[in-house]
Amino acid sequence: MGFEFRPATSVREVQDAYELAARVFGPNYFDSKAHKERLLRLEPAQDPRDVVIGRQGGETVAIVRIVDRTVSLAERALKVGGITAVAVRPDVQGQGAGRAVMEAALERSRERGDALSIAFARRAVDGFYWRLGYVGVGCHPRITIRIGESPNESNLRIEDGFRRERMDAYARAYDQTYRNLPLRFVRDESAWDSICERLSWPPTARFVSVLDAARSVGYYVVADGAVIEAAAIESPALLRDVLIHHVGNAGELVLALHPHHPVASQFHRDNHTTSIRHAWDGGHVVRVLDGAGFLAGLAEHAQCDRRTAEVPDTRDHATARQVLLDAAGVVTNGKGMLSPLPAWTRIDEF
Ligand SMILES: CC(C)(COP(=O)(O)OP(=O)(O)OC[C@H]1O[C@@H](n2cnc3c(N)ncnc32)[C@H](O)[C@@H]1OP(=O)(O)O)[C@@H](O)C(=O)NCCC(=O)NCCS
Repeated sequence: MGFEFRPATSVREVQDAYELAARVFGPNYFDSKAHKERLLRLEPAQDPRDVVIGRQGGETVAIVRIVDRTVSLAERALKVGGITAVAVRPDVQGQGAGRAVMEAALERSRERGDALSIAFARRAVDGFYWRLGYVGVGCHPRITIRIGESPNESNLRIEDGFRRERMDAYARAYDQTYRNLPLRFVRDESAWDSICERLSWPPTARFVSVLDAARSVGYYVVADGAVIEAAAIESPALLRDVLIHHVGNAGELVLALHPHHPVASQFHRDNHTTSIRHAWDGGHVVRVLDGAGFLAGLAEHAQCDRRTAEVPDTRDHATARQVLLDAAGVVTNGKGMLSPLPAWTRIDEF
């Protein structure tokens, strides 16, 4: 029986597709269903067309959900289609439905005007996304800092947990600290809301507010023994002291932060011995949809003149991949940039 791949056209089709995703993803149906329902509540599919489906014989056999995101590159805001809930009913897997539903999702993303398609994917390394023009960009630096002497005494104190009432301060700290890093996710109020929710079930990361008297001046997040995000409204030097005091362990502190993150740079300037390890297979995959916009943003970021004679045809998967692979060359140009692309963390996963 023939397949049909297209955007959903009704709430009913969206619900059917989410039901399929709940059945395909584990570890068991009820937990998985509760999880998917929570995600849908958090980010309702306002436009059903952002849920792309595969149908066969009147039944839904495949789903891809596209969520709205924005990343910034230099001063540009690039619209992102976040790819999530990619699933094919087990009895039709291996017959091309996964590929076809993803092709339909890319078409929908182009129609939405997305410049990039991004997935945080467990399958980043098995070739599924690569065949569709995506490139793994998960640069996960782990910077080990040896803490020689005690840092300056600081008046700052910490408080465990994400506090909704402090959200404005978190947002301000994030914007100030991350604004110059390439391809950072732009987080609006609903993004912070969803972070708050996602950090609470299950608690996989420790979110800590940094306070000066009662005033919130920043925060950091620790997961698997490393600081995966740190932001301060004012001086990164203060944050450095807080991290040494509260996260440093046996004379060592591990930062899973972009090497140009202000706190990482601060440690570097202070001449602490550091070692940096990079891994490129961390599960973040990116596909360029608007080659011209992406390349222009990249050139601005790297402050180099890189005009392409012609706009690359990113409909072609191999060309789309090449645009991103070449991008590594651009950003290392003159700026000595270690990691061209962002050190995204689980906080931004969708
Ligand atoms: C991943 C999934 C969506 C793929 O769907 P599918 O219908 O089986 O995939 P297709 O038959 O369209 O295969 C598409 C291509 O990817 C390749 N591929 C699929 N799964 C692969 C795997 N595990 N390892 C290597 N390649 C794989 C196929 O060989 C095919 O390549 P080709 O086009 O060059 O022949 C499906 O297996 C699934 O629902 N898995 C469970 C949920 C899941 O893991 N979702 C992804 C979360 S990131």
